[in-house]
Amino acid sequence: MDSKTEKSQKIEKLKQDKNSVILAHYYVPAEVQAVADYVGDSYYLAEVAARVEQQTICFCGVRFMGESAKLLSPNKRVLLPAKDADCPMAHMAAVERIQEVRRQYPDVAVVCYVNSDAELKAHSDVCVTSSNAEKIVDALPNRHIYFIPDEHLGRYIAGRLPQKHFIFNDGFCHVHTEITPKELAKARAAHPGALVLAHPECSRQVTGLADYVGSTAGIIAYAAQSKAEEFIVCTETGVFYQLQQENPGKHFYPAMERQICPNMKKITLDQVIRALETGETEVELPADWMERAHAPLRRMLELAGR
Ligand code: 13P
Ligand code: SF4
Repeated sequence: MDSKTEKSQKIEKLKQDKNSVILAHYYVPAEVQAVADYVGDSYYLAEVAARVEQQTICFCGVRFMGESAKLLSPNKRVLLPAKDADCPMAHMAAVERIQEVRRQYPDVAVVCYVNSDAELKAHSDVCVTSSNAEKIVDALPNRHIYFIPDEHLGRYIAGRLPQKHFIFNDGFCHVHTEITPKELAKARAAHPGALVLAHPECSRQVTGLADYVGSTAGIIAYAAQSKAEEFIVCTETGVFYQLQQENPGKHFYPAMERQICPNMKKITLDQVIRALETGETEVELPADWMERAHAPLRRMLELAGR
């Protein structure tokens, strides 16, 4: 038996013994996705975290995802196998600037992409993910929208909702913004018949060239229903595991070589075992953030579910 199989079996047993469930994002390494009970995009995982029965949630993803799970299930224990796995974009907005925008536009809605730390959420009106941002912003009564922290997702949604007035923040994802139109043109030349699927964290130049723009789950669903057989995928390459599993006859290519999120790749089977065995990497948040950051996440689930 190889050590990967042994580790997976150990994790299965630990899950039973410790009344635990494993949630994993599509970007974590394939062997970690394979041991998870639920694999999905940020919205799906938040929604699952709010309803699972097990007492412990082992969250294989970056810190903001574990924090969201804790905020939605405050009485549960949420473990982060790699405690230093953090999304840099989650800190790319400032509370002082939110307060300034609120003074400037008293009727503004502060719309916070879930890729944000709990403190930013605590100062926001509603959270969104890439799969529900358009629907939620459209449903808000406010005309002025301050979109934090990601400028690119904000600009993409603004392009879809011209009736709203957006104020942008300059946060970005270094993985997605490294994909340039030039890199995409090279990939297209190498695979001329391929459709281009892009995450909205990519720049507007890249999303403007795509055949489909959506969240990781949206990209996976689009590829599954499409009659095309070749796809250039503009997002983190962790999605290739699910894409290949669901579409064995289709071919998927990255737009460039470095489409890797170093933080998502920090999560290993050994760390999952250690987290379940020791409970050492528990998410803990200050009580006042817990209270205030819960409301915008709840509002997201309500508005997305309508
Ligand atoms: P999704 O919600 O589309 O899975 O995106 C999460 C993320 O971190 C993208 O970089
Ligand atoms: Fe953050 Fe980008 Fe990694 Fe997503 S891919 S977790 S936005 S750094």
